[in-house]
Amino acid sequence: MQNIIFPKDFVWGAATASYQIEGGVKEDRRGESIWDTFCRIPGKIFNGHNGDVACDHFHRYKDDVKLMKELGLKAYRFSVAWPRVFPQGRGSVNLKGLEFYRRLTNELKENGIEPYVTLYHWDLPQALQDLGGWDRRDIADDFAEYSMMMYNSLGDIVKKWFTFNEPWCTSFLGYAYGVHAPGIVDPAAAVRASHNIMLSHAKAVEAYKGSKHNDGKVGIVLNIAPVYPKTDTDRDRLAAANYDGYCNRWFFDCCFLGRYPEDILKIYQNALKAPVIRNGDMELISSNRASILGVNYYTRTIVSSNLISDSFTGRILKFRECRPGGPVTEMGWEIYPQAFYDFLERVRTTYGNPETYITENGAAFPDKNIIDGMIDDADRIEYLKQHISTAYKAMRDGLDLRGYFVWSLMDNFEWAHGYSKLFGITHVDYGTQKRTFKKSALWYRELIRTNTLT
Ligand code: FCB
Repeated sequence: MQNIIFPKDFVWGAATASYQIEGGVKEDRRGESIWDTFCRIPGKIFNGHNGDVACDHFHRYKDDVKLMKELGLKAYRFSVAWPRVFPQGRGSVNLKGLEFYRRLTNELKENGIEPYVTLYHWDLPQALQDLGGWDRRDIADDFAEYSMMMYNSLGDIVKKWFTFNEPWCTSFLGYAYGVHAPGIVDPAAAVRASHNIMLSHAKAVEAYKGSKHNDGKVGIVLNIAPVYPKTDTDRDRLAAANYDGYCNRWFFDCCFLGRYPEDILKIYQNALKAPVIRNGDMELISSNRASILGVNYYTRTIVSSNLISDSFTGRILKFRECRPGGPVTEMGWEIYPQAFYDFLERVRTTYGNPETYITENGAAFPDKNIIDGMIDDADRIEYLKQHISTAYKAMRDGLDLRGYFVWSLMDNFEWAHGYSKLFGITHVDYGTQKRTFKKSALWYRELIRTNTLT
């Protein structure tokens, strides 16, 4: 492969999320989040782990910004914990909680690192869950109020905002399969939640226009799930189209075309009587499109048709996920960069080629190979190389790609897997909280320094 030289202003970054790294769950009157609650339910999280301490980033953010600086990062994507700012989800603001994010953004600014802020990366205030969580339509007003507070408080420095991280995960992992907080198993609730999230997103985009510092951009982070039929039969192709509709088109069409895909809407409304779309909803959604897109990519899916399964998706959307064909990461996720390219092409051709950032990409590996005290994670480096060069190809072919954020800056709390899955380019010793760069971090530093992938 030839050397790939990136554009001078290409944004190289790393990403994290509040509940996965912050800890300090009781500091400065932070309210409880649904993940605090979920972690207490026996059997939900690997080995009963929780985010009480995590990477203790709440106390160590200055050192962590130093790490970023050492890596030469141009940008850092983090999320705000809503319950730090509004312990009850709405009503009176907790200025001390807000201060933490002020200190963090100031620190980033002083170090020349641009903050990219996600407003919702899964840690809903428990108080709002008690009112129905994302299954309550009016949560959109609470989200808009919270968003406005953040825009007005940090908008002088923060110019790139993402409303939601991976709304598919919040809706379906949280409300249909119950494997993420709040742990509900009710497919109709999942579909309702997804619509309420789209309304919340639209209201938060609208709020930005009226905020004090509205000269930046606001968009959304979507997880892409490229899907391929197992065989070239009509049945398998329909299965793949449905899976694509449920994971990808539902959210992409909504945020970038201003409507839901007809085929999936029909299936949901027949089978689940959801979502209920009121007068004005689609106008609101369609007049408040995202102006930037964050893409999270890890793997692809292969599906075959399935008419007999009793699982929600299998039953109504007629698909079954098949075992991956190629090599996988520690998550069991197939390594398949071509799917990344194929989907990015769709972003360009179907979704209007918005200003795009790869907001997450990375891989979990066991990290067992230690040479001279350093984790030699050649497998992670290889994964990153393959995917970064693929993103480059998509850009070369016309995608308006502006940046890439590796997941993750450091090992962290991987949701239901607890601390058992390692995605960091920096190792964290959870006993001492010592951070040590892995070989991939040094490799990434060199990529950033030279702006060249060799
Ligand atoms: C994504 C999440 C992120 C992290 C990675 C591995 O779905 O956004 O928080 O857990 O997966």
